[in-house]
Amino acid sequence: MSTESPQETVMEPAADRRPVVIVDDVHVEYKVFATGKRPSAADRRSLKQLRVKGKQMRTVHALKGVSFTAYANDSIGVIGTNGSGKSTLMRAIAGLTPTSRGAIYSQSRPSLLGVGAALLKDLSGERNIILGGLAMGFTLPEIEARYDDIVKFAGLEKFIDLPMRAYSSGMTARLKFAIASMATHEILIVDEALAVGDRTFRQRSEARIRDIRDNAGTVFLVSHSMQSIRETCSRVIWLDQGTLMMDGETDEVIKAYHAAQDK
Ligand SMILES: Nc1ncnc2c1ncn2[C@@H]1O[C@H](COP(=O)(O)OP(=O)(O)OP(=O)(O)O)[C@@H](O)[C@H]1O
Ligand SMILES: [Mg+2]
Repeated sequence: MSTESPQETVMEPAADRRPVVIVDDVHVEYKVFATGKRPSAADRRSLKQLRVKGKQMRTVHALKGVSFTAYANDSIGVIGTNGSGKSTLMRAIAGLTPTSRGAIYSQSRPSLLGVGAALLKDLSGERNIILGGLAMGFTLPEIEARYDDIVKFAGLEKFIDLPMRAYSSGMTARLKFAIASMATHEILIVDEALAVGDRTFRQRSEARIRDIRDNAGTVFLVSHSMQSIRETCSRVIWLDQGTLMMDGETDEVIKAYHAAQDK
Protein backbone atom coordinates (compact mmCIF):
# COMPACT_ATOMS: atom_id res chain seq x y z
CA MET A 1 0.00 0.00 0.00
CA SER A 2 1.35 3.43 -0.88
CA THR A 3 2.16 5.72 2.03
CA GLU A 4 -0.04 8.41 0.50
CA SER A 5 -3.09 6.22 0.79
CA PRO A 6 -5.83 8.04 2.70
CA GLN A 7 -6.63 4.98 4.83
CA GLU A 8 -3.14 4.85 6.20
CA THR A 9 -3.12 8.48 7.20
CA VAL A 10 -6.39 7.96 9.00
CA MET A 11 -5.21 4.83 10.75
CA GLU A 12 -2.00 6.19 12.16
CA PRO A 13 -3.29 8.20 15.10
CA ALA A 14 -5.51 5.25 16.05
CA ALA A 15 -2.46 2.96 16.06
CA ASP A 16 -0.79 5.31 18.56
CA ARG A 17 -3.66 4.87 21.00
CA ARG A 18 -3.70 1.11 20.60
CA PRO A 19 -5.33 -0.41 23.72
CA VAL A 20 -2.94 -2.90 25.28
CA VAL A 21 -4.57 -3.84 28.57
CA ILE A 22 -8.27 -3.54 29.35
CA VAL A 23 -9.32 -3.96 32.96
CA ASP A 24 -13.08 -4.35 33.10
CA ASP A 25 -14.89 -4.15 36.44
CA VAL A 26 -12.36 -6.35 38.22
CA HIS A 27 -13.02 -7.73 41.67
CA VAL A 28 -10.55 -9.83 43.63
CA GLU A 29 -11.49 -11.59 46.82
CA TYR A 30 -9.02 -13.47 48.95
CA LYS A 31 -10.32 -16.21 51.20
CA VAL A 32 -8.25 -16.55 54.34
CA PHE A 33 -8.54 -18.36 57.62
CA ALA A 34 -8.76 -16.09 60.61
CA THR A 35 -8.65 -17.19 64.24
CA GLY A 36 -12.18 -15.87 64.56
CA LYS A 37 -11.82 -13.51 67.50
CA ARG A 38 -9.49 -10.82 68.65
CA PRO A 39 -7.02 -12.38 71.10
CA SER A 40 -7.03 -11.07 74.66
CA ALA A 41 -3.79 -10.33 76.49
CA ALA A 42 -4.35 -13.41 78.67
CA ASP A 43 -4.75 -15.56 75.54
CA ARG A 44 -1.51 -14.27 74.16
CA ARG A 45 0.32 -15.03 77.40
CA SER A 46 -1.00 -18.57 77.47
CA LEU A 47 -0.18 -19.08 73.77
CA LYS A 48 -3.83 -20.03 73.17
CA GLN A 49 -3.56 -18.32 69.84
CA LEU A 50 -1.44 -21.16 68.58
CA ARG A 51 -4.36 -23.56 68.85
CA VAL A 52 -6.21 -24.08 65.62
CA LYS A 53 -9.62 -24.40 67.26
CA GLY A 54 -12.44 -22.29 65.86
CA LYS A 55 -10.82 -20.98 62.71
CA GLN A 56 -13.11 -19.02 60.45
CA MET A 57 -12.97 -18.32 56.77
CA ARG A 58 -12.79 -14.61 56.14
CA THR A 59 -13.04 -12.84 52.81
CA VAL A 60 -10.81 -9.89 52.03
CA HIS A 61 -12.28 -7.86 49.19
CA ALA A 62 -9.01 -6.49 47.79
CA LEU A 63 -10.33 -5.02 44.51
CA LYS A 64 -13.85 -3.71 44.18
CA GLY A 65 -14.74 -3.10 40.56
CA VAL A 66 -11.66 -1.50 38.99
CA SER A 67 -11.85 -0.49 35.30
CA PHE A 68 -9.41 1.32 33.01
CA THR A 69 -7.64 0.91 29.67
CA ALA A 70 -3.88 1.11 29.17
CA TYR A 71 -2.50 2.07 25.76
CA ALA A 72 0.79 1.48 23.96
CA ASN A 73 3.39 4.05 25.06
CA ASP A 74 1.62 4.57 28.39
CA SER A 75 3.67 4.49 31.52
CA ILE A 76 1.23 4.32 34.36
CA GLY A 77 2.13 4.99 37.96
CA VAL A 78 0.07 3.08 40.52
CA ILE A 79 -0.21 4.73 43.92
CA GLY A 80 -2.16 4.24 47.15
CA THR A 81 -1.66 3.54 50.83
CA ASN A 82 -0.48 0.14 52.13
CA GLY A 83 -3.10 -2.52 51.50
CA SER A 84 -5.02 -0.46 48.93
CA GLY A 85 -4.81 -3.22 46.32
CA LYS A 86 -1.89 -2.14 44.09
CA SER A 87 0.02 -5.45 44.12
CA THR A 88 -3.24 -7.37 43.80
CA LEU A 89 -4.13 -5.39 40.68
CA MET A 90 -0.66 -5.96 39.19
CA ARG A 91 -0.78 -9.68 39.94
CA ALA A 92 -4.23 -9.88 38.37
CA ILE A 93 -2.99 -8.11 35.22
CA ALA A 94 -0.04 -10.52 35.08
CA GLY A 95 -2.48 -13.43 35.35
CA LEU A 96 -1.10 -14.62 38.68
CA THR A 97 -4.16 -13.84 40.80
CA PRO A 98 -7.59 -14.90 39.55
CA THR A 99 -10.35 -12.31 39.42
CA SER A 100 -13.55 -13.17 41.21
CA ARG A 101 -15.61 -10.94 38.94
CA GLY A 102 -14.88 -8.89 35.83
CA ALA A 103 -12.22 -9.53 33.20
CA ILE A 104 -8.78 -8.45 32.07
CA TYR A 105 -7.80 -8.49 28.41
CA SER A 106 -4.21 -7.96 27.37
CA GLN A 107 -2.58 -7.91 24.02
CA SER A 108 0.49 -9.89 25.05
CA ARG A 109 1.62 -11.59 28.20
CA PRO A 110 2.62 -8.99 30.79
CA SER A 111 5.87 -9.60 32.70
CA LEU A 112 5.79 -8.86 36.38
CA LEU A 113 9.13 -7.72 37.69
CA GLY A 114 8.63 -7.94 41.40
CA VAL A 115 10.88 -8.20 44.38
CA GLY A 116 9.83 -11.86 44.50
CA ALA A 117 11.13 -12.94 41.08
CA ALA A 118 12.73 -16.35 41.43
CA LEU A 119 16.49 -16.49 41.51
CA LEU A 120 18.55 -19.10 43.32
CA LYS A 121 20.29 -17.75 46.40
CA ASP A 122 22.96 -20.46 46.47
CA LEU A 123 24.15 -19.80 42.95
CA SER A 124 26.43 -16.99 41.90
CA GLY A 125 25.17 -13.88 40.14
CA GLU A 126 26.78 -15.22 36.95
CA ARG A 127 24.83 -18.52 37.12
CA ASN A 128 21.62 -16.64 37.88
CA ILE A 129 22.04 -14.47 34.81
CA ILE A 130 22.35 -17.63 32.70
CA LEU A 131 19.37 -19.32 34.38
CA GLY A 132 17.25 -16.18 34.16
CA GLY A 133 18.15 -15.80 30.49
CA LEU A 134 17.27 -19.42 29.72
CA ALA A 135 13.99 -19.03 31.62
CA MET A 136 13.14 -16.06 29.42
CA GLY A 137 13.79 -18.12 26.30
CA PHE A 138 17.27 -16.94 25.30
CA THR A 139 19.89 -19.33 23.94
CA LEU A 140 23.34 -19.53 25.56
CA PRO A 141 25.05 -17.48 22.81
CA GLU A 142 22.32 -14.82 23.13
CA ILE A 143 22.88 -14.67 26.88
CA GLU A 144 26.64 -14.52 26.34
CA ALA A 145 26.18 -11.55 24.02
CA ARG A 146 24.23 -9.66 26.68
CA TYR A 147 26.17 -10.82 29.73
CA ASP A 148 28.57 -7.88 30.11
CA ASP A 149 25.78 -5.34 29.71
CA ILE A 150 23.73 -7.01 32.41
CA VAL A 151 26.60 -7.09 34.88
CA LYS A 152 27.42 -3.48 34.10
CA PHE A 153 23.81 -2.36 34.37
CA ALA A 154 23.54 -4.10 37.75
CA GLY A 155 26.88 -2.56 38.78
CA LEU A 156 27.96 -5.89 40.28
CA GLU A 157 31.30 -6.46 38.53
CA LYS A 158 33.08 -7.21 41.80
CA PHE A 159 30.40 -9.50 43.19
CA ILE A 160 29.25 -11.47 40.20
CA ASP A 161 31.10 -14.67 41.19
CA LEU A 162 29.69 -14.66 44.74
CA PRO A 163 26.55 -16.60 45.70
CA MET A 164 23.50 -14.35 45.80
CA ARG A 165 23.15 -15.20 49.47
CA ALA A 166 26.02 -12.78 49.99
CA TYR A 167 24.21 -9.89 48.25
CA SER A 168 22.43 -7.08 50.05
CA SER A 169 18.72 -6.64 49.24
CA GLY A 170 19.56 -3.69 47.01
CA MET A 171 22.17 -5.70 45.11
CA THR A 172 19.67 -8.54 44.62
CA ALA A 173 17.05 -6.13 43.28
CA ARG A 174 19.59 -4.63 40.87
CA LEU A 175 20.47 -8.03 39.50
CA LYS A 176 16.80 -8.99 39.08
CA PHE A 177 16.02 -5.79 37.26
CA ALA A 178 19.08 -6.17 35.04
CA ILE A 179 18.20 -9.76 34.14
CA ALA A 180 14.55 -9.00 33.45
CA SER A 181 15.36 -6.02 31.31
CA MET A 182 17.49 -8.08 28.91
CA ALA A 183 14.23 -9.09 27.26
CA THR A 184 12.09 -6.59 25.40
CA HIS A 185 8.80 -6.34 27.20
CA GLU A 186 5.67 -5.17 25.56
CA ILE A 187 3.98 -4.91 28.93
CA LEU A 188 6.24 -4.55 31.94
CA ILE A 189 4.97 -4.36 35.52
CA VAL A 190 7.40 -3.13 38.15
CA ASP A 191 6.10 -3.46 41.70
CA GLU A 192 8.35 -1.59 44.14
CA ALA A 193 11.46 -3.27 42.73
CA LEU A 194 13.24 0.06 42.58
CA ALA A 195 12.57 0.91 46.20
CA VAL A 196 15.58 -0.93 47.61
CA GLY A 197 18.08 0.31 45.03
CA ASP A 198 20.26 3.35 45.67
CA ARG A 199 19.95 6.66 43.85
CA THR A 200 22.26 5.84 40.94
CA PHE A 201 20.55 2.55 40.29
CA ARG A 202 17.11 4.09 40.60
CA GLN A 203 17.97 6.65 37.97
CA ARG A 204 19.40 3.98 35.68
CA SER A 205 16.30 1.80 36.01
CA GLU A 206 14.00 4.76 35.48
CA ALA A 207 15.85 5.50 32.25
CA ARG A 208 15.40 1.86 31.23
CA ILE A 209 11.66 2.09 31.96
CA ARG A 210 11.41 5.20 29.81
CA ASP A 211 13.22 3.34 26.99
CA ILE A 212 10.68 0.54 27.13
CA ARG A 213 7.82 3.00 27.05
CA ASP A 214 9.36 4.93 24.16
CA ASN A 215 9.64 1.71 22.16
CA ALA A 216 5.86 1.36 22.19
CA GLY A 217 5.81 -0.72 25.33
CA THR A 218 3.46 -0.21 28.26
CA VAL A 219 4.84 0.08 31.77
CA PHE A 220 3.10 -0.06 35.14
CA LEU A 221 5.17 1.24 38.03
CA VAL A 222 3.95 0.70 41.58
CA SER A 223 5.80 2.94 43.96
CA HIS A 224 5.53 4.91 47.16
CA SER A 225 8.17 7.27 45.80
CA MET A 226 6.34 10.13 44.12
CA GLN A 227 9.69 11.20 42.69
CA SER A 228 10.08 7.92 40.77
CA ILE A 229 6.48 8.20 39.59
CA ARG A 230 6.93 11.80 38.44
CA GLU A 231 10.12 10.95 36.58
CA THR A 232 8.72 7.95 34.73
CA CYS A 233 4.96 8.22 34.40
CA SER A 234 2.66 10.43 32.40
CA ARG A 235 -0.47 8.94 33.88
CA VAL A 236 -1.30 7.79 37.41
CA ILE A 237 -3.90 5.48 38.89
CA TRP A 238 -4.75 5.97 42.55
CA LEU A 239 -6.25 3.06 44.45
CA ASP A 240 -7.85 3.31 47.86
CA GLN A 241 -9.30 0.31 49.69
CA GLY A 242 -9.66 -1.58 46.43
CA THR A 243 -11.42 1.22 44.57
CA LEU A 244 -10.07 3.36 41.77
CA MET A 245 -10.14 6.88 43.23
CA MET A 246 -8.62 8.71 40.29
CA ASP A 247 -7.01 8.06 36.91
CA GLY A 248 -5.37 11.00 35.19
CA GLU A 249 -2.40 13.23 34.61
CA THR A 250 0.50 12.54 37.02
CA ASP A 251 0.72 15.84 38.90
CA GLU A 252 -3.03 16.17 39.31
CA VAL A 253 -3.47 12.69 40.76
CA ILE A 254 -0.47 13.01 43.11
CA LYS A 255 -1.83 16.35 44.33
CA ALA A 256 -5.25 14.87 45.07
CA TYR A 257 -3.65 11.85 46.76
CA HIS A 258 -1.54 14.05 49.04
CA ALA A 259 -4.51 16.26 49.83
CA ALA A 260 -6.52 13.18 50.88
CA GLN A 261 -3.68 11.96 53.10
CA ASP A 262 -3.26 15.33 54.81
CA LYS A 263 -6.90 15.33 55.87
N1 LIG B 1 -2.43 -13.56 49.51
C1 LIG B 1 -3.32 -12.85 50.21
N2 LIG B 1 -4.23 -13.44 50.99
C2 LIG B 1 -5.14 -12.73 51.67
N3 LIG B 1 -5.23 -11.40 51.65
C3 LIG B 1 -4.35 -10.74 50.90
C4 LIG B 1 -3.33 -11.41 50.14
N4 LIG B 1 -2.60 -10.49 49.48
C5 LIG B 1 -3.13 -9.29 49.81
N5 LIG B 1 -4.16 -9.42 50.66
C6 LIG B 1 -5.03 -8.34 51.19
O1 LIG B 1 -5.51 -7.61 50.09
C7 LIG B 1 -5.50 -6.21 50.35
C8 LIG B 1 -4.67 -5.52 49.27
O2 LIG B 1 -3.31 -5.93 49.39
P1 LIG B 1 -2.18 -5.52 48.34
O3 LIG B 1 -0.97 -6.33 48.64
O4 LIG B 1 -2.74 -5.58 46.98
O5 LIG B 1 -1.92 -4.00 48.74
P2 LIG B 1 -0.81 -2.95 48.22
O6 LIG B 1 -1.56 -1.76 47.77
O7 LIG B 1 0.10 -3.61 47.26
O8 LIG B 1 -0.04 -2.58 49.57
P3 LIG B 1 1.51 -2.19 49.82
O9 LIG B 1 1.63 -0.73 49.54
O10 LIG B 1 1.68 -2.48 51.26
O11 LIG B 1 2.37 -3.05 48.95
C9 LIG B 1 -4.98 -6.05 51.77
O12 LIG B 1 -6.09 -5.93 52.60
C10 LIG B 1 -4.25 -7.35 52.03
O13 LIG B 1 -4.37 -7.68 53.40
MG1 LIG C 1 2.19 -4.08 47.27
